[in-house]
Parts: sequence; C-alpha cells; structure tokens
Amino acid sequence: MNTKIEILDSKKLDKNILLNIGDIIKKGGLVAFPTETVYGLGANALDPEAVKKIFIAKGRPQDNPLIVHIADFQEIYELVNEVPHVAKKLMESFWPGPMTIILNKKPIIPDITSAGLMSVGIRMPSSIIAREIIKAAGVPIAAPSANISGKPSPTDVQRCIDDLFGKIQCIVGGEVSEIGLESTIIDCTVVPPCVLRPGGVTLEMLRTIDSDIYIDKAIMEKPKSDLVPKAPGMKYRHYAPKAPVTIVKGDLKKTVAKINEIVQNYIGKGKKVGIMATEETKNQYTAELVISLGTRKDIKSIGKNLFETLRCFDDTDIDVIISEAFDESGFGVAIMNRLNKSAGFNIIDV
Ligand code: TXA
Ligand code: MG
Repeated sequence: MNTKIEILDSKKLDKNILLNIGDIIKKGGLVAFPTETVYGLGANALDPEAVKKIFIAKGRPQDNPLIVHIADFQEIYELVNEVPHVAKKLMESFWPGPMTIILNKKPIIPDITSAGLMSVGIRMPSSIIAREIIKAAGVPIAAPSANISGKPSPTDVQRCIDDLFGKIQCIVGGEVSEIGLESTIIDCTVVPPCVLRPGGVTLEMLRTIDSDIYIDKAIMEKPKSDLVPKAPGMKYRHYAPKAPVTIVKGDLKKTVAKINEIVQNYIGKGKKVGIMATEETKNQYTAELVISLGTRKDIKSIGKNLFETLRCFDDTDIDVIISEAFDESGFGVAIMNRLNKSAGFNIIDV
C-alpha cells in the first residue's frame, strides 16, 4: 500500500491536508496521528470494517478493545448510555487530556471496537492536531497506540513509519508526544471508579474529584492466572525491546554500584550492555551504551523519554538492558507500570 506522510504544524494547520486526512477516515481508511500521550492508529470507530483493519495492521489480539477519541464534550452523549456525576466531574477537570473514561456503551459502538464488551473507553485528547483530525473526520476515531502489538508505543512520527509504513493510508507527524505514556484509564461503570491503567492524570489528581478512587491491584503486579486485570490489554506482554531488560530498585547509590557490578559480569561473558540512567547518574557508568532518560528532578521528563529510549536500544546490537527504578508515586506509578512490563517483572532489589 502507498502510505502518505504528512507533517502538520499545530500553530498553522493546513486545511487541505486536514480535509484529505478526514476523507481517508470517512472512507474507512487508517491514519496514524500524534496525540499528547502516544501516537494513535485511527479509524472510524463506528465502522466495523474500518476498525477490523486496525487489528490486522497492528497484529492486535481481537479481545483487546479500542479507545474512542472525540473532539467535543457533547459527543460522549451519542456514544454511551449515561454519564454519571463523577464522570462528568472528571471530564470537566481533565479533558481535553490524557484520561480515558470507561462507560456503558450505546449500540452505535460496534462490537469489534469494544471487543464484545458492554462498555467503551472514551478520550478527548489535548493535542490540537489530534482534535483537528477528529473534527475533519466528522466521526469518533478508534485509536490504539500506533505500534506493532508488543512493541513500545511510538512517541514520534519516525517510529510509526518504522512500524506501519506500507500498511496504512497515511501517517501524520508534527509533534513529539508530550506525556510519552498512554492515557490513564478510569472505569466509571463501577462505584467508586477504578483506575485500570495509570497515566498522566495521577491517582492524586483523580482523588481531588472522588477520594475513594483506587488503582486496580492487578496492574502493578506480575500477571498471575488468578488476578486478571480488568483492561484486557494489560495482560499482554508489552513494551518489550529485543534485548531483555533488568530493573535495579532501591537506594540510588546502591543501585549504581549494583548496576556496575552486573555490567562487569556481562562484559566478562562478552555481552554488550545498555543502561537506562538519569542525568544524575549517567556519568557513573561504563557500559557500551548509556542513555539518560531525563532528570529525577523532573519525573515528567523520564516518562516522556521512556518508550523512545527502549526503542533506541532496538536500533543497536546491545545484548542486555539494565535500568534504574523510580519512585512509585504520582506519575512514577505510570512509569514503573510500563518499565516493569518491559522487563517482564525482572527486578533486582538492592
Ligand atoms: O493514550 C492513549 O490511550 C492512546 C492514544 C492513542 O490515545 N491509546 C492507547 O490505546 O493506549 P491502546 O489500545 O494501546 O490501549 C487501550 C487500553 C487497552 O489496555 C484496553 O484493554 C483498554 O484500554 N480498554 C479499552 N476499552 C476498554 C474497556 N471497555 N474496558 C476495559 N479496558 C478497556
Ligand atoms: Mg497500546
């Protein structure tokens, strides 16, 4: 397939390009586009044939439902049966932004979009490019992350090109995803609402709306057969680079010492080691490749760079990756959730 690549400038949007992109979606095609969380792979959420193509292009399991993206608050009322008071409050506080609300769906949402569930996840992104594309399409857009299933989600256009060129009609660029991790998912079909995936809207922020909101236990633990996460997608192997990842967790000084010890061990075996470090520690390591995720003083920088860094290692011939850990509070919960999964919960405590 011939894939068109378009780069949009959010400050000076090209109306003709937007019309063309909208047209592709309306006609049942697929478009990868930027959002503030990660890039999405979009299709008309109300067209089962179009949505089916998303699953094929990504190699995505059919039992994994898609998030439906809207550009206007009012659109949610056409897609779900009822918007409870707490959901309204959450929307008013955190939309547009990195939060997906799960509610009971109306029949207009095809089964393939919700993977047969009675509920559907809805999100209004803050990215102007994303919202303008939804408006141009004139329909809600179903969009999972724009990666091949299993790989870290793309936060820049080049990674979408790497994964999807030749498989979809159009890839749109124009910005690096500001948050870098997928949206917070909050299930509002239950009382109190429950977080199914941590993200840019933290538990602390959600609790300003309802202090009973809690995080589903299954998501911070190694998947067990008797503790299945309520978001089907959270059970799959995810975010994994080609080289195995080990996380070293604990006091920072001890972490650095332990990582250096592990590195020496691997070098002795003739292995090439990559390290995910921080600005504070990067000069304390000697390894084949040391990449700083960002600074510990600005935890947002770590989240923004995590997926891109994991994908950078795939461009090299590194045999193993070792990463520092981060505090599991605030945005750190989302960071450690993704990092733990990328490592298959291979964690060394120091
Ligand atoms: O930030 C994001 O949410 C990005 C951008 C593109 O908006 N999208 C995204 O989609 O991360 P995806 O498909 O990679 O992840 C969607 C997650 C999956 O874990 C899925 O199981 C869960 O949302 N999900 C979707 N609908 C659900 C539902 N009705 N009930 C429970 N979980 C649901
Ligand atoms: Mg995904």
